[in-house]
Amino acid sequence: MTDKPRVWVSRPTFPDVIARLEPHFRVSAEAEERVLPAAELAARLAGCDAAIVGLKERVDAAAVAGAKRLRIVANLAVGYDNLDLAALTAAGIAASNTADVLNESVADFAWALLLGAARRVGAAERWLRAGQWHATEFKGWLGTDVRGRTLGILGMGRIGQAIARRAQGFGMPVLYHNRSRLPADVEGACQARYVDKATLLCESDFLVLVLPLTPETRHAIGAAELARMKPTAVLVNVARGGIVDDAALAAALREGRLAAAGLDVFEGEPRVHPGLLALDNVLLSPHIASATTDTRRAMTAVAVDNVLALFGHGPHAGHPPNLLNPEALAAAGAPFPPTQEPTR
Ligand code: DGY
Repeated sequence: MTDKPRVWVSRPTFPDVIARLEPHFRVSAEAEERVLPAAELAARLAGCDAAIVGLKERVDAAAVAGAKRLRIVANLAVGYDNLDLAALTAAGIAASNTADVLNESVADFAWALLLGAARRVGAAERWLRAGQWHATEFKGWLGTDVRGRTLGILGMGRIGQAIARRAQGFGMPVLYHNRSRLPADVEGACQARYVDKATLLCESDFLVLVLPLTPETRHAIGAAELARMKPTAVLVNVARGGIVDDAALAAALREGRLAAAGLDVFEGEPRVHPGLLALDNVLLSPHIASATTDTRRAMTAVAVDNVLALFGHGPHAGHPPNLLNPEALAAAGAPFPPTQEPTR
């Protein structure tokens, strides 16, 4: 009897969801959250047939150079800038993400940051906890109303659309810019108007970033873009660190060229630019936009589904539903029938 293929899970997740793999695989999961040194990551990948990884695992050509059995890397995120897709494809390794299941949670959190930054929630809470509330001042802690103001969205995928739909409840007109314009019915459902990037920057009162990090989008918001924005505007980033030039943003916020920001992601996180940490007009969170129990469970389930499917099991047998590089399967001659031990 052939040994079961092995799945390695790079972080503690939800054991009852991961357990769905057990009839078909030998499963090992890291017991604690930590960033594995490159050599350790490469060794783990070399010892498994499927890997479920998170954003802190940078899976590139060096990481998979010795991974001769590895068939799929299932990313526990919708963004996959931690994966070198070209290197995985060249090695015949499939990659998947967790598209769709986190749209609503991330959209909710974008609004939490937007409203929190507009109404100065973080700074006010710090002030209260510091014991500084001695009398309620009529003109203390004045914030900005959102109602009737213009919401701009840069990157209008499914998360951007979910953010736009919520704007209807706040009576906000929505502008968006995206690589390609959305079909009219989708624009209609979001009540969003397509504009070029320059118009988006100068007309938005609140600008939310929801675009993937790629070489083209790195510093999509830098000093020049910030200079085009209204000094009363609020910037929200729930996408990826690196899309914003954090040093330029800190300078704009410090110098009153931008009113406020709500940031869930940072260049070089978990490090946060000290210029941002020093400011009261920025609301900061540690990359948690998708962090609800339901959504993180659903993300884990999607990763499990993709692994099962690649090895010919489950409702999507043979067709991983969130495949990012179908060329990898074509090259490797997959899908694999359920009983076959994969080789490469
Ligand atoms: C994603 O899915 O890309 C989020 O940033 C991680 O939760």
